[in-house]
Amino acid sequence: MDRRKAMKIAAGAIAGSGAGLFALSKAFKPGYPIDLEPRSLEYTHSDNGWQYSPLNPAETASLAYDLYPNGSCMYAIFRSVISQLADKFGEPYASFPYHMFSYGHGGIGGFGTVCGALNGAAALIGLFITERAVSDRLITDIFQWQETEPLPKFKPVDAELELPAFTANSVLCHASNTNWSKDAGVTINSKERRERCRRLTCDVAAKTVESLNALYNNDYLTNTHGNETVQSCMACHGDQGKMKNTAGRMSCNSCHTESAGHRVFSDIHYKLMKEK
Ligand code: HEC
Ligand code: HEC
Repeated sequence: MDRRKAMKIAAGAIAGSGAGLFALSKAFKPGYPIDLEPRSLEYTHSDNGWQYSPLNPAETASLAYDLYPNGSCMYAIFRSVISQLADKFGEPYASFPYHMFSYGHGGIGGFGTVCGALNGAAALIGLFITERAVSDRLITDIFQWQETEPLPKFKPVDAELELPAFTANSVLCHASNTNWSKDAGVTINSKERRERCRRLTCDVAAKTVESLNALYNNDYLTNTHGNETVQSCMACHGDQGKMKNTAGRMSCNSCHTESAGHRVFSDIHYKLMKEK
């Protein structure tokens, strides 16, 4: 019998046998390091030929709003930043083939995976920052912010629609859009949902520019939206834990809900199991 099945059966047995074991399982709770404090991020700028220069977040957001109809989310966020740098520096920005980023719409060609606005933010970060540990931090901070911040906040001038802001709890286009539409009581193909993505793109554009500005000015704070649940799951399942059977930083409970077996037995099981 595999372990998962064993846990299910055991969970069934315990459901009938009183609450005593719940207390027992708590006694085995392993300690895990919870790191939720923001801290400054050291970064030495290196010239890779793609120079950044601080931009105005609100102006960038408005620009992204105007660009959106020409190529959707990823295209709009990317072009909103790069076109301003092209105005400032000329080449190599001036001849950038922006159209390539239209592929990011609908979670990559309509496939529903990573949100195109976030994909565009990550592409910008990848263009300017050559040190992977630093670009990974910026990407994680923006992605975790997007998972937890009620959005959209951006309002275009002469806005026709009033849109509510909700947390997406997912960086995936599919889940993020569905969660928002359900909360807003609209369908996925409604004009509200489409406008939501357009405005969310502007919010992510402003956030990305704020992040790059802060890094450029050497006052960037990382770990601003640390996810306690992710850290607690990874304490056992990540590469520092005994199981080492998963990697990543996405919000775990956007896909996994904790089974009864897991809740009752994972602590004890973990305590007794050998390092894998
Ligand atoms: C105290 C350590 C511990 C923590 C914390 C923990 N798990 Fe687990 N998890 C286990 C153990 C032990 C198993 C059973 C592994 C096995 O099959 O041997 C397990 C199994 C799983 C499985 C396999 C399917 C299942 O339910 O049996 C998933 C998925 C999972 N955990 C997700 C999570 C998520 C998501 C979190 C955070 C909310 C989390 N775990 C937190 C110990 C832990
Ligand atoms: C986008 C959905 C999604 C997210 C987000 C997600 N998972 Fe999973 N996870 C899956 C799927 C699908 C599987 C494979 C099917 C299964 O075993 O349930 C899986 C499998 C697992 C397993 C079982 C591995 C094994 O060997 O049995 C663990 C443990 C796990 N995930 C933990 C996590 C943790 C911890 C997080 C948060 C950092 C997380 N997952 C985030 C979808 C997701």
